Amino acid sequence: MKTAIVYASVHHKNTEKVVKAIAEKHPEIELIDATKTILKDLASYDLIGFASGIFYGKFHKSLLSFITENLPLRKKVFVMYTCGSDRAEAYLKDIKDLIKSKECTLTAAYSCLAYDTFGPFKLLGGINKGHPNEADLQKAVDFYEGLCK
Ligand SMILES: Cc1cc2nc3c(=O)[nH]c(=O)nc-3n(C[C@H](O)[C@H](O)[C@H](O)COP(=O)(O)O)c2cc1C
Repeated sequence: MKTAIVYASVHHKNTEKVVKAIAEKHPEIELIDATKTILKDLASYDLIGFASGIFYGKFHKSLLSFITENLPLRKKVFVMYTCGSDRAEAYLKDIKDLIKSKECTLTAAYSCLAYDTFGPFKLLGGINKGHPNEADLQKAVDFYEGLCK
């Protein structure tokens, strides 16, 4: 299966750790940094993942723009996010709508709590220190392998 994971990881590289852990075990995956890539032809991929931290309740804006510009119609898609505190339903709303507008199938979502020093959390030394940890990374690998079955 030809897989691409498009990611944006700008706060503490939390999401990058997660997607790189998967790609290390599965070298066939192409990782694409949405903060550095504006246009990309994704037509040849069987499975496309989109991953980022959550910013003001949404996936990173570079990732959402990337999807708008580049996601072909009727692809099999999955999403992954890291966040300070998980509110899945709210966080997934915009990206789900975008994926639906491309007539794509959202097969699954992975999330993990991760190091966050935004705003007042900085004064506390941040929350979820040490995350993503080994167990979070292993869950991400298991998540991806589950999709390939
Ligand atoms: C400006 C800003 C806004 C954020 N907003 C949220 C939020 O709404 N909900 C949340 O759970 N985490 C929020 N976070 C925390 C990040 O989602 C979290 O640290 C994430 O793991 C960052 O991923 P990255 O290091 O891959 O960029 C915010 C962080 C920043 C810097």
